[in-house]
Amino acid sequence: MDKMVIHGGERLIGEVQIGGAKNAALPLFIAALLTDEEIHLHNVPALRDIDTVEKLLRNMGITVKREGFDATIQAKSLDTIEAPYDLVRTMRASILVLGPLLARAHGAKVSLPGGCAIGTRPINLHLDGFHALGAEIDLEHGYIHAKADKLAGTTIDLSLPTVTGTENLMMAAALAEGTTIIENAAREPEVVEVGNFINKMGGQISGLGTKTVVIKGVSALHGTDYTIMPDRVEAATYMVAAGMTRGNLLIKGARPQHLKAVIDKLSEAGMEIHEENGGLRCLMTGSIKSVDAKTLPYPGFPTDVQAQLMAMMCFANGLSVISETVFENRFMHVGELKRMGADIQVEGHSAIIRGRGELSGAPVMATDLRASASLVLAGLAASGTTEISRIYHLDRGYERMEEKLRVVGANIRRVKA
Ligand code: UD1
Repeated sequence: MDKMVIHGGERLIGEVQIGGAKNAALPLFIAALLTDEEIHLHNVPALRDIDTVEKLLRNMGITVKREGFDATIQAKSLDTIEAPYDLVRTMRASILVLGPLLARAHGAKVSLPGGCAIGTRPINLHLDGFHALGAEIDLEHGYIHAKADKLAGTTIDLSLPTVTGTENLMMAAALAEGTTIIENAAREPEVVEVGNFINKMGGQISGLGTKTVVIKGVSALHGTDYTIMPDRVEAATYMVAAGMTRGNLLIKGARPQHLKAVIDKLSEAGMEIHEENGGLRCLMTGSIKSVDAKTLPYPGFPTDVQAQLMAMMCFANGLSVISETVFENRFMHVGELKRMGADIQVEGHSAIIRGRGELSGAPVMATDLRASASLVLAGLAASGTTEISRIYHLDRGYERMEEKLRVVGANIRRVKA
């Protein structure tokens, strides 16, 4: 297994180009199931999760061609309506095939995602929604068997604004008979992206970005061309990197309107952040201030940036409380940060960080995607050498991270197993 070796202490200075958003690219690849015509995607990030979704679609007999940052997908016909355990296990977002398969093929067999490093992460809201649209759902031998001769529009009131749940239901409802209203819908930019994409395929979705999304079903969708939005979590991670290394980075492609909560929090922590040349200039000249934060659904502070902010708070001088309200059990990075000398105490949904202005390099282990990113950041700012193992987690969601960091001055290298 590859390792990342970092010699900390370098200020990061220069420009980092942000890639296409993983969490938008995944549902857009899958939404290609909604038509038999060609879909052309641009700004496709080079990530392991994208390779997994490609495998998932190919396994169904769908043509996927990738060349650089472009992808062409055509679901002319389907060989199978199954998403097998091996693929769903490595990428939970595979569950997103349920909606399009129900709409297009009137049935789906999808492995239950099972437990996950980040809390229990159930999918009850997806399944309840499909049931409300008229699908019969059975759970057998670890698989979800769903079928529906037809899907009929209805009102679905989500008890939690689930991101992939909203996307899954929107994709199914796009080809249902009549109008579907999703109440308490997720408002994340990636959800808006999926809606805009379906509309470009000929769908009729309104209310995107609000709590009430209205989907008028259409009889067919057609092929289209679409450029994937920049990844706001990748952008936020490099913004924190600039702050933690007292650096000065231009984060190219970052969209400030998607990052308001992050910009506000990092500014409170002492960073200077402003728009420049279609990106964000992020610099830190003084010392890091302790800030409190609470993760919330969009437009609140993103749970996907919680671990990175916590790493930063270890370098402040003072007390910071970070509360995680979106997922249970999303503090796996705490134990690893402690190995680097962090003083963090977890009490229920909150982590109390007593920043000491420093961490010292140590061997640590990546446990999930964003936790891995927080360890890279900690390693960049720590004294001495940090060795991060199990970095396959990192490759799921960060494109060539060590290369992007090296260009701006980091002393980081990947050691092949
Ligand atoms: C998506 C993102 C992930 C991000 C998360 C929250 C993708 C591929 N992944 O994950 O990066 O961290 O949004 O912004 O886009 N829940 C239920 N029942 C359900 C569904 C969800 O109880 O059926 C709960 C979850 O356990 C969690 C909360 O709802 O507590 C939010 O989860 P959700 O928005 O569904 O996250 P994902 O879509 O899995």
